[in-house]
Amino acid sequence: MMKHIFAGAALLLSAGAALADERPSQAVIDAYLAATFGKAPPEWQARIKPDESLAVCNTTRNNPSSAQSEAMLKRESARVSYPADGKFLGDWKKGYQVANNGRGGQFSDAPNTVSGGNCFACHQLDPKEVSFGTLGPSLAAYGKDRKYDPETIKDAYTKIYNSMAVVPCSNMPRFGVNKVLDEQQIKDVMAYLFDPESPVNK
Ligand code: HEC
Repeated sequence: MMKHIFAGAALLLSAGAALADERPSQAVIDAYLAATFGKAPPEWQARIKPDESLAVCNTTRNNPSSAQSEAMLKRESARVSYPADGKFLGDWKKGYQVANNGRGGQFSDAPNTVSGGNCFACHQLDPKEVSFGTLGPSLAAYGKDRKYDPETIKDAYTKIYNSMAVVPCSNMPRFGVNKVLDEQQIKDVMAYLFDPESPVNK
């Protein structure tokens, strides 16, 4: 009897190992992706080519080694472009529009479509808003809790511009680096987080 149980367990283990081995290689995944977008215009095809950091996240399944993480933070920090006028905060009312807009980057979009940040999809922001995602931490009272500290303001700009400059293989979109949002939109959504008058801080 015992013998059978052990044999069964061994069989399950080897089945598990076989399944794990069946994960297609990165080359197969890349070829499949390329074929999926085969008829798309070249600028769309270019979007599925991962940059250096994303390639590391893909091959390590978001689990880079500490050396890879360190290199990634350095590489991605160098890609952050800060406002030339030194001002990080725009208009919080426009920032709300950015946070609440999930449109953009779709085949069907007219060329002049304004993209949004879709922040509510992953974060609580205005504590009075009932509908929000929880993939990211709550950002309610973000500025107030941080006493509107200038260093923290700069750090948040970095995070929004290029999330991987702060957290390697972050799940948060890289809004500035990937040109989803322009500088003014990032300033506006920053004001939504940091303006004392913003509902986020009420
Ligand atoms: C697809 C989900 C997703 C979207 C969309 C998203 N975020 Fe995030 N965000 C995250 C996750 C996950 C974290 C925490 C882990 C990390 O830092 O990568 C995070 C962290 C943050 C932080 C740092 C919080 C801290 O710990 O202090 C800020 C600030 C932030 N996000 C702002 C924004 C803003 C502003 C937007 C919209 C322009 C946005 N996020 C859109 C997923 C998202």
